[in-house]
Amino acid sequence: MKVSVVAHPQFVVADIDPRLYGSFIEHLGRAVYTGIYEPGHATADENGMRKDVIDLIKEIDVPIVRYPGGNFVSAYNWEDGVGPKEERPVRLDLAWHTSESNEVGLHEFADWCVSANTEMMLAVNLGSRGLDEARNLLEYANHPGGSEWSDKRIANGRAEPFDVKLWCLGNEMDGPWQIGHKTADEYGRLAHETAKAMRAFDKSLELVVCGSSNAKMPTYPEWEATVLDHTYNEVDYISLHMYFDNHANHTPNYLAMNEKLDDYIMSVAGVIDYIKAKKRSSKQVYISFDEWNVWYHSKEQDKKILEGADGWPFAPPLLEDIYNFEDVLQVGLILNTFIRRSHIVRIACLAQLVNVIAPIMTSPNGAAWRQTIFYPYMFASRYGRGKALDLKVAGPTYKSDVAGDVSCLDVSAVHDEKAGAVSFFIVNRSDKEVEAEFDIAAFGKNASIIDHQIMTHADLKAVNTEADMMNVAPKKADSASLANGSLSAKFAPYSYQMIRIK
Ligand code: AHR
Repeated sequence: MKVSVVAHPQFVVADIDPRLYGSFIEHLGRAVYTGIYEPGHATADENGMRKDVIDLIKEIDVPIVRYPGGNFVSAYNWEDGVGPKEERPVRLDLAWHTSESNEVGLHEFADWCVSANTEMMLAVNLGSRGLDEARNLLEYANHPGGSEWSDKRIANGRAEPFDVKLWCLGNEMDGPWQIGHKTADEYGRLAHETAKAMRAFDKSLELVVCGSSNAKMPTYPEWEATVLDHTYNEVDYISLHMYFDNHANHTPNYLAMNEKLDDYIMSVAGVIDYIKAKKRSSKQVYISFDEWNVWYHSKEQDKKILEGADGWPFAPPLLEDIYNFEDVLQVGLILNTFIRRSHIVRIACLAQLVNVIAPIMTSPNGAAWRQTIFYPYMFASRYGRGKALDLKVAGPTYKSDVAGDVSCLDVSAVHDEKAGAVSFFIVNRSDKEVEAEFDIAAFGKNASIIDHQIMTHADLKAVNTEADMMNVAPKKADSASLANGSLSAKFAPYSYQMIRIK
C-alpha cells in the first residue's frame, strides 16, 4: 500500500520560531574545555576559541545556545566566571564531580556566541541560590551602566550590555538529583518571585520556568500544573526535557518513541490550557523543549567518574555518546515532531552541541568532526524555517510496544514563502521500502525538485569517528519525480530523506 500525503499552503500549523533549532552548552565534560575553548589549538582565535568548531556550528546555523547548564547551573556562582582570569577560583562542580577552572564565563561565552553567529539563552541558579543572585546577574548583563553590577561589567572590559532576552529560571528543579531540588510549591513560589523581580527590571524579557525533567517523573504532570499555577502570569514558556535510548536494542520500538514525545507535548499543552482557563488569562504560555537528544551510549563508561572514583578531574570525557545511523532516524523523528507541534513548542535545544551528547566531536589538539546526528539537525535548521504545514498522511503502519500502531513513514513539511520552497523531512522507520505520492498541486503545477538528500546505511549501528568521519553522511538522491502537482518517490527502508521543491 502506498503512502498518500496532501500538502496545501493554507493548511498551516504555525510560523516556526527559528529558535526551535537551538542547542545547549553546559560546563560539563569537554563541552567547554577542549570543546569550544582550547587556547593553543591550531585553529584557536584570539580568545582561545576553536575556529574549526565554530565553522561546524555555522554549518548548522544554530539560532540560540542555552548556557551554562543544565545540572551545573544549580550550584554555579556566576561571579566566579567574570573578572581577571587569573583571579577566578577553581570550584568543585557537584553536579558532575569535576573541577571547574572558570576560565570561560559570561564574557567569553558572549564573545563566542558572536563568532558562532548565535544568541545566548542564559539560565540562573535557583538551586543553591535565589532571587538576589539572579537579579544581580541580570543587572550585570543587561544594564547600560551607572549601577554597581553594570559598572563591574564595564570594569571587566565590556562597555555595552549583553542584552540577553531569554532566561531560564533554574534547571530541572523537579529532579531529586538537582542541587537545591524543590517541591513544586517551593519552586513555583521562588520562580514566581524571581520572574517578578526580573520583569521589574525589564518587562520585555522572555522567561522560561522549569517543567518536568521527563514524562516518567512521579511528579509529572502535577508539577506543571502547580508550577504554572504560581507563575502563569509572569512567564512565557515552560521547559520540558526528554532523552531517548535504545538500551533494549529494539529498533522498531526505538523508532516509535517520538509518539511518546508527542503525547508528552500535548499533555503539557493541555495543562497549560487548564491553568490559562483557571486564571481567566488571555496570555499564552508556550513550551521550551530545551533539552532533547539520544543519550545512552556513554552511560556505562561514565559511571566511574560520576561516582567520584577518579577524584575531581578537569574536563574529563563525560557523556561522549558516539551516535550511530539508527540515531539519525531518531533525531529526524524528534525534529519532525517539533515541527508538527510548532504551534506550542516554540523553542527547543538539542542537548548538547560539542562533545557532550553532541552532533560535533573534537579531539584535544586535533580534529573536529560531524557525528551522524549532525545531518538531520542541519537539514531541519537550514531548511525548516517558515510555516509548518498541517499535512494529511495516510498509509501503512507497524505495531510497536511503546506506542501501538505507528506510521511507517513519518513526514513533516515547512513552507518557506520567501524562498518559494517547500521542504519535506521524511523518515522511513520501517524495514520495508515504502512508496509515496505527495499531492502538492496547491503549490503550483510547475514546481520542480530542487534538492533531494538521502541518509541510509547497510549497518544501523554505523558511526563516524575521527579516523572515518564520513562513514555516515547524506548523499544526493534521484528516486523522486514530480509531474502535474504530484510528487512520487520510493523511500528505502530505514532512511532519512529531505526533498525540497520550488
Ligand atoms: O544534558 C545533560 C544533563 O541532562 C543536564 O545537565 C540536565 O539538565 C539533564 O538531566
